[in-house]
Amino acid sequence: MSIDLSVTFTGLRFENPFLLSSAPPTESENNILRAFEAGWGGVVTKTIGMHPVVNVAGPKTKFLRYYPETKALSMNKGRSGVLQASWNWELISDKPLDWWVPRLGRIKKAFPDRALVASIMAGSGSDKELDHWRSLARACEGEGCDALELNLSCPHMDREDMGSNIGKNEKLCSFVTQVVKEAVKIPVWAKLTPSTTDIAMEAGAVFTGGADAVSASNTVPSLPLIDPETLDFEMNVDGLVSSGGLGGPAILPQSMAKMAQMTRVFPEKAFSGIGGIEGFGHALNYFLLGCGTVQVCTAAMLDHAVGPNVIKQLLQGLREFLDKNAHRGWKSVEDFRGLRRERIVAHSQIRRPEDSDYQGGYEAEGYAEPVRS
Ligand SMILES: Cc1cc2nc3c(=O)[nH]c(=O)nc-3n(C[C@H](O)[C@H](O)[C@H](O)COP(=O)(O)O)c2cc1C
Repeated sequence: MSIDLSVTFTGLRFENPFLLSSAPPTESENNILRAFEAGWGGVVTKTIGMHPVVNVAGPKTKFLRYYPETKALSMNKGRSGVLQASWNWELISDKPLDWWVPRLGRIKKAFPDRALVASIMAGSGSDKELDHWRSLARACEGEGCDALELNLSCPHMDREDMGSNIGKNEKLCSFVTQVVKEAVKIPVWAKLTPSTTDIAMEAGAVFTGGADAVSASNTVPSLPLIDPETLDFEMNVDGLVSSGGLGGPAILPQSMAKMAQMTRVFPEKAFSGIGGIEGFGHALNYFLLGCGTVQVCTAAMLDHAVGPNVIKQLLQGLREFLDKNAHRGWKSVEDFRGLRRERIVAHSQIRRPEDSDYQGGYEAEGYAEPVRS
């Protein structure tokens, strides 16, 4: 039985379901061309804005590692430790739209059969800002991009009307999605932040605005650790730090929980899973929760900047998984997608020992006061 690694997602065909997410691996034409040569099924560009941004004076990303001999958890003790997470406070692309436009066209011409998704971001506080969304969207569509991903999730925004501050506001994220949808014909994905109470609410809002898919998650708001010797944050500029974003292995279970909140409420909708993926076993979690594609950042950054070995292993892992499950009739991702979505239930639905009933924390047991004799 022949296996098929391709997927159809938001109406687009992907040679395989593995994408590089919007981040340093997709920050330049050269990187994206290298990524396609390496075999990635698609890329989401580093987020493009109208105007150049200026990053902090110093490193923008570091990697948090665990050193078993000393039990140290640090970003500054070399590569011998075990990777736990990435931490970054990098802003969107420092190249403006004008820089990107000819490059997007050239990339698309060089790889017409690969999916090129443009990540875009603007403010939302005025008509002028909404026009920026329209301009960005139309320019990327005009260069042949296959889809757009709206960055409604950048965690390091001072502006109240940008990034994750849009993604935390149901009305705003619905409205911005609608504005972009009305401006273009290509599919529009919305990338959401994990830092809300129930991400299914924001997913519902962007779907109401017309989103064709939700990508999640972006990084988790967090701080670098404090060095116990110097008492300085391990990443700082002049001793100061601001909230940044955690990615990599540490966020896989958290991002899964967010994804499950959404896929359970919207089983028919399209989702792209992001967070903590390095090997196929990690990606499989997202497929089993209902995702049609997955995206990778941290693992690719640590593998020759665009993840040539990561994509090789992901493809090999998917092939082996399909071969191993051929007896079930599985030939492609679609055959096992969403298979574990319904296994996530309320705590009270989990079996208790000896068939005793659980009262959900009410009455007679659970969190009730113990009976005193
Ligand atoms: C240095 C760095 C820069 C990032 N820049 C962007 C960005 O411009 N736009 C965006 O949507 N996400 C951005 N992200 C988030 C990633 O695309 C991804 O959502 C996140 O890192 C989780 O995936 P991972 O666990 O594979 O790293 C960035 C992440 C890192 C580490």
